[in-house]
Amino acid sequence: MEIKIAPSILASDFARVGETVKKLEECGADLIHCDVMDGNFVPPITFGAQMVKTIRPHTNLPLDCHLMVLHPETHIEDFARAGADNITVHAEACDIPALFQKIATYSVKKAAVINPETAVEKVFPAVEAGADMILLMSVHPGWGGQKFIPETLKKIELLRDFCIRCGKAELDIEVDGGITEENVKDVISAGANVIVAGSTVFKSKDMAETIRRLRG
Ligand code: DX5
Ligand code: ZN
Repeated sequence: MEIKIAPSILASDFARVGETVKKLEECGADLIHCDVMDGNFVPPITFGAQMVKTIRPHTNLPLDCHLMVLHPETHIEDFARAGADNITVHAEACDIPALFQKIATYSVKKAAVINPETAVEKVFPAVEAGADMILLMSVHPGWGGQKFIPETLKKIELLRDFCIRCGKAELDIEVDGGITEENVKDVISAGANVIVAGSTVFKSKDMAETIRRLRG
């Protein structure tokens, strides 16, 4: 499967976000991962749809919006209008099939995500409900720079097996949190193909080289 790298702008300088997304595109990123946090679903607050609208003119890459918010249904329209290409909602925060219907009305790709402590089976109905992508959190949502939780590897394997059994072998499986040049190979071998990386990309001296290495 094609491996896609989705750098998270959470680890970047928000004052220069336009330049940053342009640079990420030049450096070979495939998606721009936007971590939206509301101070309720997770303790920190980051940014909302206005930020997505701000960066939209600066890149042609798809904007991959990870909504760590309560009541995501009240924000779908704003993100769609702001230029989101994917909207990812937490199974812990909403009724996934209902949200997918809403997201689909805006012709935006729909994705579901689960936290590390949520059983992988909780996301299976999202696959059956027509998800374009499933995201598995490999750290507790809310902060960049945490350590990868190794139990995620088994969840990736179980999810890829389930997708194969459902006739959706090629479904995008994204993994988010604590991914480094060292552990990315295990993540890909387990069956993931969309790799989110915040600290690893932004702390590196050569973003293009790091993105190339993250392809496994
Ligand atoms: C965590 C966010 C992640 C985070 C990843 O709540 O969803 O996308 O930015 O950052 P790193 O790669 O530093 O773990
Ligand atoms: Zn994220």
